[in-house]
Amino acid sequence: MEKDVYILAIESSCDETAAAVVKNGREVLSNVIYSQIALHTEYGGVVPEIASRKHIEKINQVIEQALVDADRKLGDMTAIAVTYGPGLVGALLVGVSTAKAISFASGIPLVGVHHIEGHISANFIENKDLEPPFICLVVSGGHSHLVVVKDYGEYEIIGRTRDDAAGEAFDKVARAIGLGYPGGPKIDRVSKEGNPEAIHFPRAKVGDAEYDFSFSGLKSAVLNYLNSCQMKGEEINVADVAASFQKAVVDVLVEHSMDAVRKYHYKKFAIAGGVASNSSLREAFENACRKEGIEFYHPSPVYCTDNAAMIGAAAYYEYQKGMRHGLDLNAVPNLRLGERV
Ligand code: KG4
Ligand code: ZN
Repeated sequence: MEKDVYILAIESSCDETAAAVVKNGREVLSNVIYSQIALHTEYGGVVPEIASRKHIEKINQVIEQALVDADRKLGDMTAIAVTYGPGLVGALLVGVSTAKAISFASGIPLVGVHHIEGHISANFIENKDLEPPFICLVVSGGHSHLVVVKDYGEYEIIGRTRDDAAGEAFDKVARAIGLGYPGGPKIDRVSKEGNPEAIHFPRAKVGDAEYDFSFSGLKSAVLNYLNSCQMKGEEINVADVAASFQKAVVDVLVEHSMDAVRKYHYKKFAIAGGVASNSSLREAFENACRKEGIEFYHPSPVYCTDNAAMIGAAAYYEYQKGMRHGLDLNAVPNLRLGERV
């Protein structure tokens, strides 16, 4: 019988300090997340320097808690996994340095993980039957990728955003309509009170690349709409603007994804990343996949936004392939998916 693989995973690429213990890639024994959101709210977005400092303050505590919650000791761990890119360089460095120090002191092997590979792998946690190949839409604060997951750790990006990421668009529009940071969950909530057909915002097409996205035109259309209302002295219905904007984003994401599903003939489709926790997006994909006759996979909201359990899931498959990193592992802020350093 094969020995169980226990991974202590660490994630600090943005504004969540997180650690988790994951058994055999799919069983989460603990998942501790210290969210810095409240700290950054007064600045209207993540302040990198503040994020790094808070990571330093919290990381040891979060790791210790992850071991306690899992009822395991450091010595029980098979590998130490850490996100080494992409992300904010100072924030990444805190996790990478901590993981290297733990690996050096304990002699437990180190496995560096790509953050987006983590988001995609979040789908393995609750969907025990999900195996590649499948298509995955990754929509987070920094990324919007349509990815063919050919095998564990093997990806082909077939679509990407030309400008703003989907989450970034949510955050910017939320700020413009006075909802504040973080925009995604607030727009999600307010939209439930609004009419998604009230205002028709554009659904951008990117001419030469079938699956690419563009959200900056949509963001400008919302800003123009707000300005013109203001100039005419008309009152703005925040819920209607939020719902109409959200519908425009969801329509484009669903349309591109289903086009890809049809072309590539995969029978499985998954979503990942912070925006994947959006209730309207989930419902739209549920319906679209049912219509296409394909299986739809999505992580629970807690595994959509940044967490370390997803890093532990991704690390398991990297570890099984023989991936090990040395103490020269560095933070790579613009690491590409599928690239191994
Ligand atoms: O994956 P994530 O936690 O961090 C990155 O890797 O970027 O994603 C954060 C993004 C933010 O832009 C946030 O506004 C968005 O995900 N988000 C949402 C929702 N929850 C988080 N967007 C739309 N609806 C939500 N419910
Ligand atoms: Zn993320």
